[in-house]
Amino acid sequence: MLIHSATQLLTLQGGPQRGRDLGKLGLLENGAVLIRDEKIAAVGSSAELRAAYPGEPTLDASGCVVMPGFVDPHTHLIWGGDRANEFEMKMAGAKYLDILAAGGGIISTVRATRTASIETLIAQTRSRLLRMFACGTTTAEAKTGYGLQTATELRLLKALLRLDDEGPLDLAITFLGAHAIAPEYKDNPQGYTDLICETMLPIVCQWWQTHAPRLSLPFVDVFCENKAFDLAQSRQILSKARELGFPLKIHADEFDNLGGASLAVELGAASADHLVKTSDADIQALGKSDTVAVSLPCTPFGLAEHNYTPARKILDAGCILALATDCNPGTAWCETMQFAIVLACRYMGLSPAQAIAASTINSAQAICRADKIGSIEPGKQADLLVLSVPDYRHLGYRFGTNLVKQVVKRGRVYSVDVGYYRTA
Ligand code: NIG
Ligand code: FE
Repeated sequence: MLIHSATQLLTLQGGPQRGRDLGKLGLLENGAVLIRDEKIAAVGSSAELRAAYPGEPTLDASGCVVMPGFVDPHTHLIWGGDRANEFEMKMAGAKYLDILAAGGGIISTVRATRTASIETLIAQTRSRLLRMFACGTTTAEAKTGYGLQTATELRLLKALLRLDDEGPLDLAITFLGAHAIAPEYKDNPQGYTDLICETMLPIVCQWWQTHAPRLSLPFVDVFCENKAFDLAQSRQILSKARELGFPLKIHADEFDNLGGASLAVELGAASADHLVKTSDADIQALGKSDTVAVSLPCTPFGLAEHNYTPARKILDAGCILALATDCNPGTAWCETMQFAIVLACRYMGLSPAQAIAASTINSAQAICRADKIGSIEPGKQADLLVLSVPDYRHLGYRFGTNLVKQVVKRGRVYSVDVGYYRTA
């Protein structure tokens, strides 16, 4: 298939974009993309490719932006129930970590998740995934973390593997048994930390090798924060995970600076995520490393807080910056990367071009897939979007409506435009 006449074709070619280099879109006017066997076969001007490949089925993208599918590298997609009641409490002044310490927050979702059947969890997560897909996310990371006991955590992994298998989105799966202290260990956080290291991680490692032998091991993540896992416990968990061969991620500095970002660098983690209260020393460490700095602007927005990731400082330090939604029932039930871009432009000082690069090639790097997705280059998977706008800056500028017209996933075209109709 030949997609041609794109008013703007954003290739994002050239690999992850570090520091002030962020924002190189590789823009071609009147561009075209040739797709063969689920992959991108050629990229060039419409005139060139139409002449070289006559008789190819075509998709006319005139008046539209064509760009890589969004990669959302941080979500907590699989959960039971909802927390609409806590949203109301927070808007009336209650604090997120206090609700958690009082047995609500993550723990209330844990209760609802433990009692939900795998079919219910799959059905609810599938509808979230389809909304993400319609908004242009073609690959998403998805964490467990609302089980906090071995059996339920394995159920969540199993559900995520099934959803990955079923498509259309590709998933990058993460084990987040260290999302909160399990309620059974409320007064013994070190006991739960030891359980993760001595029991859960070895079981997950073995389980994965039997249930998903063709896939490499999932990421292991830790919520390094006051009232969750302190720095020493985070180090204990991530070191054990590394020993077992898991790739690593960390939640760091969402509310307090505990040094999680430097720990991520020290252990060679793929990414350090949140990064709101990050110290200058931690930012410098990230800037000298290959650990991707993942910012989640939907989270402070969702909590009606005013501190966002200091993106300018992070770019000045030379970091690889990415964006994600953090989609979860507590702080940010947001299924669209378009809204993360809107917030990053307004509250983090990114330009639309920087926010787009942070949501495609750099977010692919945050899940270690920048060699396969995140840009439109020959050989890469044919995951791309046709936007119903003629200028990429409409991303960021406009909010509250979906700008995606078509999603192309592994070369298959899915129409998103709802259109309008009138009954007789
Ligand atoms: O990334 N910080 C920890 N996890 C989520 C929130 C999860 C929840 O509240 O259910 C986050 O913000
Ligand atoms: Fe998170």
